[in-house]
Amino acid sequence: MRIHSAEFLLSASTTRQFPAETLPEIAFAGRSNVGKSTLINSLLNRKKLVKTSSTPGKTQLINFFKINDQFYFVDLPGYGYAKVPESVRRKWQNLVEAYLSERKTLRNVVLIIDCRHNPTLQDRQLLDWLEYYQRPSLIVASKIDKLKRGQIQKNLQKIKHYLSIESPPLGHSSMQHGRREEIWKKLAPWIEASE
Ligand code: GTP
Ligand code: MG
Repeated sequence: MRIHSAEFLLSASTTRQFPAETLPEIAFAGRSNVGKSTLINSLLNRKKLVKTSSTPGKTQLINFFKINDQFYFVDLPGYGYAKVPESVRRKWQNLVEAYLSERKTLRNVVLIIDCRHNPTLQDRQLLDWLEYYQRPSLIVASKIDKLKRGQIQKNLQKIKHYLSIESPPLGHSSMQHGRREEIWKKLAPWIEASE
């Protein structure tokens, strides 16, 4: 995918603030700190378009990015971060659920799992949710540079097993941008296909 332009559009804390449903969208979901924002930067070949942080809970709003004036990338707040107060967590959850269930232009949800850890119940629940709403998804295992070579395939198989999915996730490292093209290949048809 050739990226001519990539710009931050807006942050939404309520559904009313979402941009009009005019362009196809790809959203990025997953636990806090798994590397959602980093993966977006990696796919767009931009180092700092999306703010990332080693402290979990960095992305607290739904952030929309406009790419090539053609589609949106949507960075969702992460779940499963214990230090967030319950009231805040519930607010995010409601916002994310409203987004995932209602958004007409949402074409695919990239679910990111840290390759070092087993998926959690919340990861599986999100997948159940996406299936229920008939949302296509792509599962990416992030941070494979953190594993020894021999361990990577084992962990990808483990993730497949824990999530009960048909094929292992695509492994990715934002350090090496290794599987970037493969991820794009899977996402491009969703952006190009019209309603
Ligand atoms: P929240 O916004 O808090 O939900 O987190 P996030 O999922 O957006 O994670 P973010 O992209 O901010 O990355 C979290 C940390 O993981 C940062 O310190 C990143 O540099 C690091 N990170 C992300 N992807 C990779 C990767 O592929 N390899 C390595 N080594 N580090 C990564
Ligand atoms: Mg983030």
